[in-house]
Amino acid sequence: MFITFEGSDGSGKTTQVQLLAEYLRQAGRSVLKTREPGGTRISDGVRQLLLDLAHTEMHARAETLLFNAARAQLVAEVIRPALAEGTVVLCDRFADSTLAYQGYGHQQEIAEMARMIEYATGGLRPDLTVFLDLPPWEGLRRNRSQGNGKWNRLDAQELSFHQRVVAGYRKLIAREPQRWVEIDASQPREQVHQDVVRAVEKRLAVFAPAP
Ligand code: TMP
Repeated sequence: MFITFEGSDGSGKTTQVQLLAEYLRQAGRSVLKTREPGGTRISDGVRQLLLDLAHTEMHARAETLLFNAARAQLVAEVIRPALAEGTVVLCDRFADSTLAYQGYGHQQEIAEMARMIEYATGGLRPDLTVFLDLPPWEGLRRNRSQGNGKWNRLDAQELSFHQRVVAGYRKLIAREPQRWVEIDASQPREQVHQDVVRAVEKRLAVFAPAP
């Protein structure tokens, strides 16, 4: 089963993916945790290029292709082999991030983005996508105030960009409501985790009953 996490920057995805991985491992599941962009040597190299604050001249099309290059490598090298072994794969961001950020955020043609994603992933789609819902200004405030190196080139876009990203996510959810679960990420971390576990257990019971 393939589970992805989406949301605005600073919504707590990384923490929640980690907590869910620990929970599922304790329940006896084989779990692989990864993230985008990244998760392989090649994809991590592309991540450096993408998030470097100095790369202000990067064109939106180049950005989209690079995210998809990193994704193609991750899918082929890590995600597909793990899924084939029956491992539960948790991914911190996936193709919906490209639709939300490069599509709605940078206002590029969504159908073109979708074709590129189809090519990069070979048509792999998540079985469940958890949306951590937080107003974009709150997430950006969290990232900036943490001062832990999390501030990146995309965070540095203007607030209206981040508002388009969140509005874009809402459109994606409306288009495919059965794949998504929305969770209020302004709650305490443990409560968010409980909500995530409830949603995931429900879906696992259908896709991959306990061993
Ligand atoms: P993160 O690791 O902190 O989530 O940073 C990744 C950044 O890259 C984040 O700002 C969202 C952005 N991003 C895109 O713009 N498009 C994509 O396809 C992906 C995977 C991430």
